[in-house]
Amino acid sequence: MGDKTAILMRRLLVLLCLGSVLTGYDNTAASGAQDFDGNSRRGADLVKQYGCGGCHEIPGIANADGNVGPSLRRIATRTYIAGFIQNTPDNMTFWIEDPQRMLPGNAMPSSGISQDDARDISAFLYTLK
Ligand code: HEC
Repeated sequence: MGDKTAILMRRLLVLLCLGSVLTGYDNTAASGAQDFDGNSRRGADLVKQYGCGGCHEIPGIANADGNVGPSLRRIATRTYIAGFIQNTPDNMTFWIEDPQRMLPGNAMPSSGISQDDARDISAFLYTLK
């Protein structure tokens, strides 16, 4: 192998490694979550029950016009949760379940929501495209 080829090969390797680091993050989940198994209808009821609308504007939920937290309009296609956490179905479920564990000190309180409820709520949020 000539010197030039060796250098090229090394560059290619570096690029390949970089590529796998960059694409290691799951960017596809944010925009669909098609095979996500939560019950979005039940999730919408839970969103009303837990009063998320007191802090968030939420399309499709009556009187959900809070302005403490960000609007959840098109949350299904947002890249990051709270500007930090990759928006995937699992991360969204963890966020709803325990936002203080995911991002200590942020202004959304953890309110003892079960993982099942959090999953259904996430399924509803993923209908907001
Ligand atoms: C006491 C007010 C409050 C309540 C109640 C509340 N949230 Fe939040 N929520 C916030 C705040 C504030 C943030 C922003 C946190 C941050 O970015 O650091 C947030 C962030 C979020 C995010 C991320 C939004 C984004 O654009 O990144 C989602 C999703 C969310 N909340 C869903 C819910 C759901 C679902 C409920 C009901 C189970 C709920 N929240 C209840 C205050 C609240």
